[in-house]
Amino acid sequence: MSMEESKKLVAEKGLRHIAFIMDGNGRWARKRGLPREFGHKTGAATFKKVISYCYECGIKCVTVYAFSTENWKRSEREVTALMTLFSAYLDDAYSDLSKNNIRIIFLGDRARLPSLLVKKIESLEKKTEQGDKILNIALNYGSRDEILHAVNSLLKEGANEVSEEEFSKRLYTAASPDPDLVVRTAGEQRLSNFLLWQAAYSEFYYTDTLWPDMNDEELDRAFAAFGGRVRRYGAVVE
Ligand code: IPE
Ligand code: IPE
Ligand code: MG
Repeated sequence: MSMEESKKLVAEKGLRHIAFIMDGNGRWARKRGLPREFGHKTGAATFKKVISYCYECGIKCVTVYAFSTENWKRSEREVTALMTLFSAYLDDAYSDLSKNNIRIIFLGDRARLPSLLVKKIESLEKKTEQGDKILNIALNYGSRDEILHAVNSLLKEGANEVSEEEFSKRLYTAASPDPDLVVRTAGEQRLSNFLLWQAAYSEFYYTDTLWPDMNDEELDRAFAAFGGRVRRYGAVVE
C-alpha cells in the first residue's frame, strides 16, 4: 500500500486513534553490540517519523507508550538515559507540534517524575492546548494506576455510582476517543498494563519489527490489516 491508499483507508475505515507500544529498543541495541541507551535514542528518532506519517495519513489522535509504571525496575543508568531523552524531546517539540496543530497530552502519574520534567510537560501542554489533533505520550503510565486514580478521585468526591462515560472522563485519556488500533512491535503479544479500559474493542496488530526499525511500509501493513477487520462490538454483522 502507498501513502495515498493509507490515507483513503484511514478515512473510509474511520481510523481515528492509533496507539503504539514501542517495544524492542533494547534488543535493537543488543543486536549491534551497543548499550541499551542507543536503542532508546534511535527509538526516539523513529517515534518522530512514525507519528508524522500517521498524521499525514489523516489520523487525528496518536498515543505512544514511552515509560510504564513498571519500567522503574530497570537500571538507574537506563532510567536516567530515558528521562534525559524525554527532556530533550520536550525542549524541541514545540515548533513541530504548533506547525502541525497538534495538542500534546501526557498520560500517567507525574508525582514520581523529576520536577523539571513536569514543568516542561505542563508548559508544552498549555502552549499546544488549542491543537485540533492529539498526541498522547504515556509516561510513568500504568493502566491499573490510572483506573485506581479515577476511582479514588470519585470516592473523594462522595460518588457512589458512575456511568461508563463519567468514568472515562476521569481517565488520563479523557480528551481522546478509544483507540481503534493498538500496534505492538518486537514480537511481544501483550498489553503490559496499557489502556486496559480504553482498548476494550480495539483491534490489535503485532509485528516482529523492533521499534527503532519501524517505518512507513510497516505502518501501511498495519493500516491494511486494520482495513480487513470486521468490528462487531458483540453484534452480528452479515
Ligand atoms: C521499549 O523498548 C522502550 C521502553 C520500554 C522504555 P525496551 O527497552 O523494552 O526494549 P526490549 O524489550 O528490552 O528489547
Ligand atoms: C512496555 O514495554 C512499556 C513500554 C513500551 C513503555 P516493556 O518492555 O516494559 O514490557 P514487558 O516488560 O516486556 O511486558
Ligand atoms: Mg521491552
